[in-house]
Amino acid sequence: MSDKQVVLGTELGPLADNERLKRESNFLRGTIEQDLKDRVTGGFTADNFQLIRFHGMYQQDDRDIRAERQKQKLEPLQNVMLRARMPGGIISPEQWLAIDKFATEHTMYGSIRLTTRQTFQFHGVLKPNIKLMHQTLNKIGIDSIATAGDVNRNVLCTTNPVESELHQEAYEWAKKISEHLLPKTRAYAEIWLDGEKVEGHQDEEPILGSNYLPRKFKTTVVIPPQNDVDVHANDLNFVAIADNGKLVGFNVLVGGGLAMTHGDTATYPRKADDLGFVALDKTLDVAAAVVTTQRDWGNRSNRKNAKTKYTLDRVGTDVFKAEVEKRAGITFEAVRPYEFTDRGDRIGWVEGIDGKHHLALFIENGRLLDYPGKPLKSGVAEIAKIHKGDFRMTANQNLIVAGVSKSNKAKIEKIAREYGLIDDGVSEQRKNSMACVAFPTCPLAMAEAERFLPQFVTDVEDILEKHGLEDEHIILRVTGCPNGCGRAMLAEIGLVGKAPGRYNLHLGGNREGTRVPKMYKENITDAQILEDIDALVGRWATERNDGEGFGDFVIRAGIIAEVKVSKRDFYA
Ligand code: HEM
Ligand code: SF4
Repeated sequence: MSDKQVVLGTELGPLADNERLKRESNFLRGTIEQDLKDRVTGGFTADNFQLIRFHGMYQQDDRDIRAERQKQKLEPLQNVMLRARMPGGIISPEQWLAIDKFATEHTMYGSIRLTTRQTFQFHGVLKPNIKLMHQTLNKIGIDSIATAGDVNRNVLCTTNPVESELHQEAYEWAKKISEHLLPKTRAYAEIWLDGEKVEGHQDEEPILGSNYLPRKFKTTVVIPPQNDVDVHANDLNFVAIADNGKLVGFNVLVGGGLAMTHGDTATYPRKADDLGFVALDKTLDVAAAVVTTQRDWGNRSNRKNAKTKYTLDRVGTDVFKAEVEKRAGITFEAVRPYEFTDRGDRIGWVEGIDGKHHLALFIENGRLLDYPGKPLKSGVAEIAKIHKGDFRMTANQNLIVAGVSKSNKAKIEKIAREYGLIDDGVSEQRKNSMACVAFPTCPLAMAEAERFLPQFVTDVEDILEKHGLEDEHIILRVTGCPNGCGRAMLAEIGLVGKAPGRYNLHLGGNREGTRVPKMYKENITDAQILEDIDALVGRWATERNDGEGFGDFVIRAGIIAEVKVSKRDFYA
């Protein structure tokens, strides 16, 4: 590869350093193995710091104690966060008990974190335990390949226990897509599982290429009308189209993404575009065609403009679509009609069409830990000991105890209540609020998110009650920096961390997740935000149309302009 990238005759500039490190990594091996043995430092050095991401880990340190350790002339307490590959978020009780044991015995925080992309994370794994972690997971059929880094990440699938048969089909596709787009290198097996180095084995990456993708890539399978996976936060989405309850194909949506950089108007959150409908048997071909088009056309010079959303805006969606058709050997049919109505999980019991029962547990911030008087993590473990179905992690950071027989229902509910996993007092507002991790583990956090959310929601609940709207909710999301892991850029009220105690306040997303909110005020304190919310909710209470959501109201009332096309409207 030359040092400059040219796409469709346009020179994009010199390659970013990440391109060098991928190219020189020998298919993601780097010198990770040597680093792992080096106990002088708790961290990974040079390129390996980045390369471990492709194996599903981020190097972190506890930011709460960083300054204190510096005073003591100690290096930061280096550790890794691991994110599992869990297409569709489904995990068996046996697997759950094993990850629970590992989190309890071998992580600094002892928690299992359910994430906004339907998997779990271990936080705070020290170097001597990293291999043990991968081997523990491997024994129970779980890996963390490609859950971070410039690859296709964990594939999401709508958790829909009610339409059980359609869900099963969609879930199978999520797994197939995940496998199809996975790196083929043996690096993971060799480094973490002591896999044999096969003599003469040539690594090949027919889909991802030896330099992998220009940037991270995210895929979902979604079953309308539920948009729990938030398609517009993802590069590639397969919207399930069913005929008489049977899956017949997918509408393909490309180019969603939420990250931006403060002060850089060349970066912006963007909704995905509909490319058209494709029959089931061409699904994997289309997935590969979208990924390889982005592989070849995505910007490898400027990582802030490297995601699929920017490729679409640079080359034009029609040109991108034509290339995908050419590579997949298909012609997209017209988009089949579909509609999203909401994104939340139905907390509590629901019955599936197969007669099985499913209990969705609300887990605040997805953080499973034994809190004083609320031993949530132990509660899930107790359920796992007697549960015969499976667990489903949702993209809203909740957990579904799925496939419960009528005879087991009462027993499971009793445990859930005893351990604080069912709390009838949780408001609609709390159920519809979400935050990313941020402090203390995330190195990129500018402001608190997960630790800030619970009290903030209480304050918003008080405001709703004051205006007689205590049964209402506003989709409220907080993200500790503009990278957007908490998906605030698809919220009705979105807070984006700017500095400790300060946020940008965005308004105007909708309940279905099909509109990006626009900045209303910049760099304000939480007290100022609450004042604004109070004033706006006051107006919403008196001026709204029947059933009108807060995000729709603020646009209709002229409080904020609608973002129709992000590139044009987001900063206008
Ligand atoms: C430039 C963009 C981004 C960067 C550099 C980035 C980086 C990170 C880092 C370092 C963490 C670890 C935090 C921790 O667990 O301590 C994280 C967590 C996470 N990120 Fe991102 N992220 C980006 C954008 C996004 C976006 C747009 C999404 C989804 C729409 C996302 C989804 C997640 C999820 C699901 C987690 C796990 C924790 C959670 O549920 O909040 N990320 N990200
Ligand atoms: S949004 Fe920022 S602060 Fe929050 S987890 Fe992502 S990178 Fe960290």
